[in-house]
Amino acid sequence: MKTQYYTATSLDGFIADSQNSLDWLFQFGEVQGDSYANFISEVGAIAMGATTYEWILNHHIDESADRPQAWPYEQPTWVFTSRILPTIEGADIRFVKGDVRTVHQEMIVAAGNKNIWIVGGGDLVGQFYDSGLLDEIIVSIASVTLGSGAPLLPRTITTPPLKLLSAKVYGDAFAELRYEVPVHADDKSA
Ligand SMILES: NC(=O)c1ccc[n+]([C@@H]2O[C@H](COP(=O)([O-])OP(=O)(O)OC[C@H]3O[C@@H](n4cnc5c(N)ncnc54)[C@H](OP(=O)(O)O)[C@@H]3O)[C@@H](O)[C@H]2O)c1
Repeated sequence: MKTQYYTATSLDGFIADSQNSLDWLFQFGEVQGDSYANFISEVGAIAMGATTYEWILNHHIDESADRPQAWPYEQPTWVFTSRILPTIEGADIRFVKGDVRTVHQEMIVAAGNKNIWIVGGGDLVGQFYDSGLLDEIIVSIASVTLGSGAPLLPRTITTPPLKLLSAKVYGDAFAELRYEVPVHADDKSA
């Protein structure tokens, strides 16, 4: 069982633009082959930050949503927030705050033999990384630059570096890179 950060980023390292828009990503449609289907079939528990959750509320769930669809996940989902946010009928959503290590323990139990997906944003993934709980990064790099926005992973990871496990090409817009995250010196889980 692994804890994974699976996401798409611009070439210059942003997962959303400065308005929290993903239009730059959706212009490509579903071009990543069977990558997501294979990935999500092995996921048993999900975590995300409040901005990501609110993006789903605004764009998929709300009456005025521009991309209306049901809550997309069957897996139990932990949403990190210090606020009281709207719930979604029929979705297994657990609002939490504070130390990611406590939540990660709950997620391990729920996930069984499956993986844990940290959807984002970047700093929440960084909190799991800081605690030595992040095993893999699977990132699809889109052929766009945004100049500013929500950062992919606002942490310094240099020595030891990430270990590149694979690189795949999807069409003429995406490169999917899979990295193993090394054990690092400032791991706070010990
Ligand atoms: N390209 C992609 O595939 C992709 C994937 C995921 C997300 N996104 C987008 O990227 C953007 C990410 O936004 P973001 O950087 O603001 O990140 P985020 O992680 O979605 O949201 C950050 C917020 O989460 C809450 N939070 C984080 N850690 C917490 C903790 N330990 N305890 C309590 N609350 C915590 C805080 O909200 P409170 O103010 O409520 O405390 C914080 O302001 C979104 O627009 C999202 O839609 C894109």
